[in-house]
Amino acid sequence: MAAMEDLLLQFTNTETLLGTFVILVILYLILSSFGPRTKEPPGPRPLPLLGNLLQLDPKTPYRTLYELSKKHGPVFTVHFGIKKAVVMAGYKTIKQALVNHDTFADKETLPIIRDLKLTHGIIFANGDTWKEMRHFALTNLKNFGVGKRANEEKIIEESQCLINVFKAKEGKAFDTTEPVSYAISNIICSFVYGNRFEYDDKEFRSMVDRAGENTQLIGSPSVQLYNNFPSLFSWFGARKQLINNAFANRKQMTELTKGLQETLNPHMCRGFVDSFLARKMQLEASGSKNSHYHEDNLQATVVNLFTAGTDTTSSTLRYGLLLMARYPEVQDQVQGEMSRVVGNRQVRVEDRKNLPYTDAVIHEIQRMICTVPILTRSASRDVTFQGYFIKKGTPVVVLLSSALQDEDEWEKTYTFNPGHFLDEEGKFRKRDAFLPFSAGSRACIGESLARMELFLFFTSLLQHFRFTPPPGVTEDELDLTPTMGLALAPSPHELCAISRV
Ligand code: HEM
Repeated sequence: MAAMEDLLLQFTNTETLLGTFVILVILYLILSSFGPRTKEPPGPRPLPLLGNLLQLDPKTPYRTLYELSKKHGPVFTVHFGIKKAVVMAGYKTIKQALVNHDTFADKETLPIIRDLKLTHGIIFANGDTWKEMRHFALTNLKNFGVGKRANEEKIIEESQCLINVFKAKEGKAFDTTEPVSYAISNIICSFVYGNRFEYDDKEFRSMVDRAGENTQLIGSPSVQLYNNFPSLFSWFGARKQLINNAFANRKQMTELTKGLQETLNPHMCRGFVDSFLARKMQLEASGSKNSHYHEDNLQATVVNLFTAGTDTTSSTLRYGLLLMARYPEVQDQVQGEMSRVVGNRQVRVEDRKNLPYTDAVIHEIQRMICTVPILTRSASRDVTFQGYFIKKGTPVVVLLSSALQDEDEWEKTYTFNPGHFLDEEGKFRKRDAFLPFSAGSRACIGESLARMELFLFFTSLLQHFRFTPPPGVTEDELDLTPTMGLALAPSPHELCAISRV
């Protein structure tokens, strides 16, 4: 009898325990569905050590990340090796992250950035240094009239130099990389140093070529691997090459700065370097301490302006010419509109409003190629974003390419279609998801300059030349695949520039 009572008691206790457990689970589920959700963003299951690296295409990681967002949502977790990051994808999420949340304005300090001493300056800097250098560069861009009408003449003169180089090729196939980079770089040199260089100047050529090589190397798969496993892969050749190039370029820049310092007139600044040196002198004279105007910031800011201002714009322009050779019917329409509206005279910025098709083509070039597909940021504090908890210091990958190629925003996402930027009457139409220069507090400071350069160089070149594939290559055979770098560039290719005038 006693044994029977014991058994009953045990049974009741187990039942009570189970009942309490079930009630607690239900309560938890109810409470968590009403209260603030503080779970981490979901994501693909990581492998030990490798994380999700095997799931990412090293040549086009931004594409595989966008595909992953379709499965895991616009905010998801990815493991780059042992490093956990949060990815943000799609126009609406990106806009919310960049514009409404200053929490994601900080840059993640990657090992290669530390190696290159680029934590100073603007692009990879944070906090007060970034604020001061960004503000100073923006003020100077404005004061020197960069990207404004005063600057138009310089770009027109430079486009004439570029046209002369293209003419000298006499319609034979050639690689556009060097002349286009030299022309675009000269616009930045005019702003930074106050003068341009001849395209056959050896020092200038090596400076531009090395900077271009670094932009590609810094985003290359092997440097990405080094960033994820710094202690394992520091011996990589690409990393060593990057450091050597950066060292050589700094040496050249120091020489140029020394020359400017010797002839400096603080009341008549020739360019950004003069303004920086004048400000430094002024602060030193007033006995100011903790100034941001020191050698490291000067060098890093000049490197930033030089690289950000050259490779992004020249890659876009080169891609534009390649796309014209690939889609001759679009080239026909641009040239037709140019002939009707501008004729043979020099094209000017104010013509843009009367060239809606050409304007739409330039926008579509930028949309299709997404020059800067990935922004690497870091959460500056603990934050709940779209219901997910993101811890302070978490690396955040903003997939800018997924706004420019958001399948919910663009009618023919993966087709080169200038119609994306035209209304039914053929007038130019702005699109919200067009964010090639990013948005928010860290948006590109060179946007108006880049837009002016793209318009004037592109239209001037198309006025003078018809771009075609090299003999024996069909339009369809032109490779549009980008090469991955800090900025995407077209794969190596040649084009013919056939004179039209
Ligand atoms: C087609 C040409 C260009 C494109 C597509 C482009 C795109 C971008 C993008 C997407 C960013 C944001 C990067 C990030 O947050 O990680 C950026 C930043 C920046 N860009 Fe550009 N850019 C172009 C031309 C230029 C030019 C001509 C200059 C020279 C003045 C320039 C200077 C900068 C600087 C200094 C930053 C850093 C801003 C900061 O961190 O506060 N860019 N650019």
